[in-house]
Amino acid sequence: MAVMSSAEQTSPADRPTAGSAFVRACRGEPVPHTPVWFMRQAGRSLPEYRELRAGVRMLESCRRPDLVTEITLQPVRRHGVDAAIFFSDIMVPLDAAGIDLDIVAGTGPVVAEPVRTLADLDRVRPLDPAAVSYVDEAVRLLTAELGATPLIGFAGAPFTLASYLVEGGPSRNHTQTKALMYGDPQLWHALLDRLADITLTFLRVQIAAGVSAVQLFDSWVGALSEADYREYVQPHSRKVLSGLADAGLPRIHFGVGTGLLLPAMAQAGADVVGVDWRTPLDQAAKLVPGHPVQGNLDPAVLFAPWEVVEREVRRVLAEGRNTPGHIFNLGHGVLPETDPTVLTRVVELVHTLSAR
Ligand code: CP3
Repeated sequence: MAVMSSAEQTSPADRPTAGSAFVRACRGEPVPHTPVWFMRQAGRSLPEYRELRAGVRMLESCRRPDLVTEITLQPVRRHGVDAAIFFSDIMVPLDAAGIDLDIVAGTGPVVAEPVRTLADLDRVRPLDPAAVSYVDEAVRLLTAELGATPLIGFAGAPFTLASYLVEGGPSRNHTQTKALMYGDPQLWHALLDRLADITLTFLRVQIAAGVSAVQLFDSWVGALSEADYREYVQPHSRKVLSGLADAGLPRIHFGVGTGLLLPAMAQAGADVVGVDWRTPLDQAAKLVPGHPVQGNLDPAVLFAPWEVVEREVRRVLAEGRNTPGHIFNLGHGVLPETDPTVLTRVVELVHTLSAR
């Protein structure tokens, strides 16, 4: 791996990003304006992204630090967002750990041989940090370029990774995943424990290389009841989040359709709780007292007339006002067909309306 960077020697409090609105809001500190970034801000809504990606497969692009750096910076330049999110994918650490998979345009992750039996578990090997040295390199290039703008590292949470591994691809009802979870809890827990270790290693590489915060995506965990979440998922997400506590960086935890799961997700060890558009931020804040919240404009609202977008941005800001901290975001990722000029206008509007 690369030599130690200044990021390894300086504590989070001494980094150039420590005074940024984004990091301050994550810590519940006063901010000059509400910080804003968008999940999936780097990607298909941008013509400059599509141009760079032409002829390069998704996983291949993630392995090229020059491309990763440029793609990560594109939305920062274009929209003036308060944070960059590292361009990669939740499947990258699994690919690097030796699992045969691909990310297919328009479909998503596809796993060649699904993991469903004890014998299959042998194929889920630990991640060697050296296998993601391209991540280390890209994060270092990016933090040098970004200066005072924070870079958010990320990973997929054990449940969401398991859902792709067990189903073999995207799934609506997660039937195979749940069949394994209920049918063989011992194997389930063994699988999620391995995935937690892979995720922890992947995030530690990003942290050592200099990211200013991390987001753990448990996108599909809203498919579970709270009781099942606590029994089958929370211990593993906790292993990841509590395993990062010593780094002293903000840990954001997000899933879709998680209204009633929010307290349990916060208790898994999150500092900041990401909220989708179904739960108003003021209600979410009551469910997770003491935690800053991130969200939660419906990504589909960006397709409505501007008056509606403006009204909804105002509502989200108002609902986020009396929380311990608010990071403005969408309630899920930017949809590919989104007009990027609307995203830029939303950033300007959030900054103007929230200036204090
Ligand atoms: O801008 C950013 O947010 C950074 C990049 C990023 C990507 N994937 C790039 C990507 C991030 C943070 C992710 C996370 C991710 N990947 C999640 C969690 C976030 C969420 O949206 O819930 C999940 C569930 C995945 C798995 C995955 N990878 C999906 C569902 C897809 C899209 C499938 C499709 O085509 O509709 C991918 C592929 C992917 N990841 C693309 C990008 C830019 C599209 C690449 C392409 O089609 O060439």
